[in-house]
Amino acid sequence: MTLITTPFTAHSTAADVLEGVDLTGKRMIVTGGASGLGAAAAKALTDAGAEVTIAVRNPAGGAPGLDLADLGSVRRFADAWDGPLDAVIANAGIMALPHRALAPNGWELQLATNFLGHFALITGLREHLGGGRVVMVSSGAHLGSPVHFDDPHFERRAYDPWSAYAQSKTADVLLATAIGRRWRADGITANAMNPGYIHTNLQRHLDDATMRALGAMDDDGNLLTPGYYKTPEQGASTEVLLAASPLLAGVTGRYFTEDNQEAPTVAGGSGSGPGVAGWAVDPAAADRLWDLAAAALAEPARRR
Ligand SMILES: NC(=O)c1ccc[n+]([C@@H]2O[C@H](COP(=O)([O-])OP(=O)(O)OC[C@H]3O[C@@H](n4cnc5c(N)ncnc54)[C@H](OP(=O)(O)O)[C@@H]3O)[C@@H](O)[C@H]2O)c1
Repeated sequence: MTLITTPFTAHSTAADVLEGVDLTGKRMIVTGGASGLGAAAAKALTDAGAEVTIAVRNPAGGAPGLDLADLGSVRRFADAWDGPLDAVIANAGIMALPHRALAPNGWELQLATNFLGHFALITGLREHLGGGRVVMVSSGAHLGSPVHFDDPHFERRAYDPWSAYAQSKTADVLLATAIGRRWRADGITANAMNPGYIHTNLQRHLDDATMRALGAMDDDGNLLTPGYYKTPEQGASTEVLLAASPLLAGVTGRYFTEDNQEAPTVAGGSGSGPGVAGWAVDPAAADRLWDLAAAALAEPARRR
């Protein structure tokens, strides 16, 4: 399979990617659009003419909120949607919670928020999405773990903050893989991406030692920005590339990296990459995860 290339780079901003693209009349949802990459993506899309709904937990003015960890909230948000929808950017996320936490339905909270809530949202909005695009915001961290179907919620294995994040981000890629196969006939496309490294609120759960290990903090506690770090506007470039660029029309089931190019498939695990792990684009795993998620939606309060 030939990898898709674009004229953009890791330095391109969301505005660069959308230069000359007229999104007038296009309606889009960006989850977690109040901060970080989501805010930058929403601004660039709006500047290009799109009508963007920023889906946040506590919106002002009585609009329906969206708490991805709460399936009831997701259902209410999707049910309230009216009219066509051209793109959903599944951008909201949480990372490396230091202690195991559970969503109200009993799922591990990172898997529940980053994956299951988005599964519920996107499947709930399917009827509106004819010809539309789904963008799953994953992470290079997905290379750290497959979905552990034997124990996805860390009930029998020791909880590890990064393994839980990695698993949830593999799940995000698997959802794009599944939609790419299942909804192709409806003209709905889905792709996944890694935005690169960007200072945002995402790092809120990391302690100083972890920030230092990542090269993002000096010994005095000052934030560092290594050369490979990106601005939120650069981080959002791949989100809007997949959501709105004519260059990606009809493309589905692919994974793009922070340099705005499609990534090769690699083994996954320590020392592998850059690329997308084989376990994240495995059709059998994508189907298995879909069934697990669909069952969770049918049976909301599974365990504590
Ligand atoms: N920054 C990076 O270096 C990096 C690298 C790789 C991947 N990513 C991915 O990029 C995406 C955006 O992250 P970011 O860096 O822009 O971080 P961010 O500024 O923390 O944005 C994440 C957003 O998700 C929202 N959110 C969290 N839990 C939610 C829930 N239960 N329901 C609804 N919204 C919820 C947050 O809202 P609240 O403010 O209400 O909490 C926040 O607006 C994430 O999926 C992340 O995994 C980021």
